[in-house]
Amino acid sequence: MRISVLGSGTGTNFVAIAQAVARGELRNVDIALVLSDIENAGILARAQEFGVPCAYIPVTNFKTKLEGPPEQAYIEALRAAGTDYVVLAGFMRMIKREMLAAFPQRIINIHPALLPAFPGIHSWEQALAYGVKITGCTVHFVDEGMDTGPIIAQAAVPVHDDDTPASLHARIQQEEHRLYPRVLQWLADGRVHIQGRRTFLVPPGP
Ligand code: GRF
Repeated sequence: MRISVLGSGTGTNFVAIAQAVARGELRNVDIALVLSDIENAGILARAQEFGVPCAYIPVTNFKTKLEGPPEQAYIEALRAAGTDYVVLAGFMRMIKREMLAAFPQRIINIHPALLPAFPGIHSWEQALAYGVKITGCTVHFVDEGMDTGPIIAQAAVPVHDDDTPASLHARIQQEEHRLYPRVLQWLADGRVHIQGRRTFLVPPGP
C-alpha cells in the first residue's frame, strides 16, 4: 500500500508512521510522498530526514480549503506518486469534491478529540474549556464535512486536574502516534470495511 502524507505542521505523526515502517512494525506500507501547503513546515524537514520524497505546493486562492487549480496540482502529484491512500496529518485545509472523487474512501485523517465532540481546531482547548474528564483522538475517513467522516478507530485519554492545553495536547499526541500506524496496518491488510457511517474491522486473513 502506497501512502502519501499531507501536513501543515510539525510532522510528529509522519515521524511515528515513518518510524513504524522503518522498524518493520508497519508492514506492506510505503510512504510515497509528503506534501505541505506551508513552505517551512517541519513535516517537510522530517520527510527529508527519512529520505521520503516531499514537496511544498502553495495554495494561494483560499485560506482554509483546497479547491481549484491548487487542488488539481495536489491530485496530480498524488497520482504521479502512485498513491493508494492519502493520509492527512495536521493538514489545515478542508478537502473538497474533486480530491474526494479522485481518492474515494481513500483519504483518512487524525483528529485530536473523540469525535463527534470538539471538531475543528484546537480541540484539546475545547475539551479543557468544556470540562470533560476523558478526551482522545480519532482516525476517520474524510468526507465533505468538517471532521464528520466514518470513524475507523478512537483512543481515549484522561484529562487531569492540573492539565494545561499543552500537557493535554502532548498526552493526546502520544496516543495519536500509536493509533495512526495501527489503523494503517488494518488498511494495508484490507481489514477495514465501510457500511454507511459505520466501519468494521474484519478478522485478519489466514
Ligand atoms: C495532530 O494533533 C492531529 O490530530 C491534528 O493536527 C496535529 C498534527 O500534528 N489533525 P503533527 O504535525 O503530526 O505533529
